[in-house]
Amino acid sequence: MVKTIGIIGAGTMGHGIALVAAQGGFDVVLVDVSQKTIEKQVDRIKKGLEKLVEKQKISLQDKDQAVNRIKASISLADVKGCDLVIEAITENIEKKRELLSALNEVMSDTAILASNTSSISLTLLASFYKKPQNVVGMHFFNPVPVMKLVEIISALQTSKETETTTFALAEKLGKVPARVKDSAGFAVNRILIPMINEAAFALYEGVADAKTIDTCMQLGANHPMGPLTLADFVGLDVLVGALEVFQRDLGQERYKVCPLLRKLVEAGHLGRKTGKGFFDYTDAK
Ligand code: 3HC
Repeated sequence: MVKTIGIIGAGTMGHGIALVAAQGGFDVVLVDVSQKTIEKQVDRIKKGLEKLVEKQKISLQDKDQAVNRIKASISLADVKGCDLVIEAITENIEKKRELLSALNEVMSDTAILASNTSSISLTLLASFYKKPQNVVGMHFFNPVPVMKLVEIISALQTSKETETTTFALAEKLGKVPARVKDSAGFAVNRILIPMINEAAFALYEGVADAKTIDTCMQLGANHPMGPLTLADFVGLDVLVGALEVFQRDLGQERYKVCPLLRKLVEAGHLGRKTGKGFFDYTDAK
């Protein structure tokens, strides 16, 4: 039974997963390499929970209990006693390989290792770990507290028990899990990211300006935010990285990266996180 969840990487996804897990009654160990990041993100979690108190969705006591369930750390060794660890570090195979090797020394042979990867093969990740049958994909969506879906991806090596436990955990976190095959982009990103790339092509080819493209998709297709705003929200580097995986695995021509998207990444305009992407956020608070 899962009681304690380790989360490695306190970025956008990791801190959201920590919030949801603590709110769901689990003890959480949140690990990041940087003390500064971890302090900032724990503060963000507290503020997120305070908002829920203000909206009267949870009580002050619920908030305090959730905050107390989170142990923040910069030492990987602290996930030692966890029943399940979710890695949510940067989307880079080499970095993930290094992390999984280090976890070989730390985690118990019975603990489950879930990855929040959005584009890397779970079968490949499982091959880096001492107990490949304990590795599974648990793909959350941004913003984690709001988005109901979690894609559950079995690697070729994943045991039925690992998959069943992880599926049940997603439900306990108040999410709706969906079993998806271990193939590039799984289900959501396979469909969503080419649409965003197409919006970038529409802008690049002068179909309309960025704001108009977004308005068209909001009002004409009922999307909660336009594709270019969503691109800035997800991170343009993440999108280019995913499209490159699609090119490799699914077809070079079909998933061609829009040159404008690539140029913005080259310029360091990665979206909200850098203050600029398709839109400018430098004045935003
Ligand atoms: N954390 C917690 N709650 C948040 C939040 C956040 N970061 N952002 C918004 N919310 C909450 C608000 O508090 C509000 O709650 P309430 O209804 O209880 O008052 C509710 O969400 C709606 O928020 P807003 O009224 O401020 O604004 P919107 O109605 O525009 O909703 C949104 C914001 C939920 C982000 C919505 O625009 C949306 O659904 N956008 C699309 C998000 C999406 O597609 N995500 C998937 C990205 S792809 C991905 O993550 C996969 C990865 O691998 C790339």
